[in-house]
Amino acid sequence: MYTQAKSSNDSKPVTLRDLARMKAEKAKIACLTAYDASFAALVDEAGIDLVLVGDSLGNVIQGHATTVPVTVDDIVYHTKLVARGLKRAFLVADMPFLSYATPEAALANAGRLMQEGGAKMVKLEGNGSQADIVRYLADNGVPVCAHLGLRPQMVHKLGGFSVQGRKAKAAKQMVEDAKLLEKSGADLILLELVPRELAAEITAAVEVPVIGIGAGPKVDGQILVLYDMLDITPGRKPKFAKNFMEGAGSVAEGIAAYVKAVKNKSYPAAEHSFD
Ligand code: KIV
Repeated sequence: MYTQAKSSNDSKPVTLRDLARMKAEKAKIACLTAYDASFAALVDEAGIDLVLVGDSLGNVIQGHATTVPVTVDDIVYHTKLVARGLKRAFLVADMPFLSYATPEAALANAGRLMQEGGAKMVKLEGNGSQADIVRYLADNGVPVCAHLGLRPQMVHKLGGFSVQGRKAKAAKQMVEDAKLLEKSGADLILLELVPRELAAEITAAVEVPVIGIGAGPKVDGQILVLYDMLDITPGRKPKFAKNFMEGAGSVAEGIAAYVKAVKNKSYPAAEHSFD
């Protein structure tokens, strides 16, 4: 008989204050994506601090080539599922492409992710030009994670996926954008595909925690797409996505190995980072 997976992890729910304290104490923050209740319960049980319902579900769940087709309804649906599986981890939901094009739309859609989905924070792919939107959300009590570096929703504008901020001018701009977004009310920053020293500079320049994916080890925490680190994603995996199923006897063991590697700083190693 099918029984709904339940976490036996009874520790207190992680809050934004806990994440800030972890940065201050230099304790690494372990994060993963999840898209359903069963995986959510597994990652929660393994001690993951933050779970993101990423629009990467467009790739790994829906089979699209990009995240562009993902809708607010999709994210609300998957956030509801994940919320049911979590007891401890802090739940963040992604704002899909064009769902935050104006402050009013951003607030209405963020409201759905929090009120219908149960998210405690929303993430949007924003540089300095999204500062007003971040401020509007923050002023209305919506916790915001600003996603800088590679912004996959911009894939058609960028012409592909590549490391961002390698040129001095772009690197300087990213540091300024991170500071502006923090000043505008962002409570968390996520850096994707950024050279390790630039990520370190941004992490030192802002007070809020910085979570990296393909951003090297000198950030406050790490995140991966769950299906990449479990080696489920079909096709070529990104260089930074280590397969934690290697040597693991079960999915739970693979996730536990990831948490341990993030916490003891053995992941990411040099081969998972960019210069
Ligand atoms: O959508 C997603 O899963 C993300 C990760 C790449 C962090 O934004």
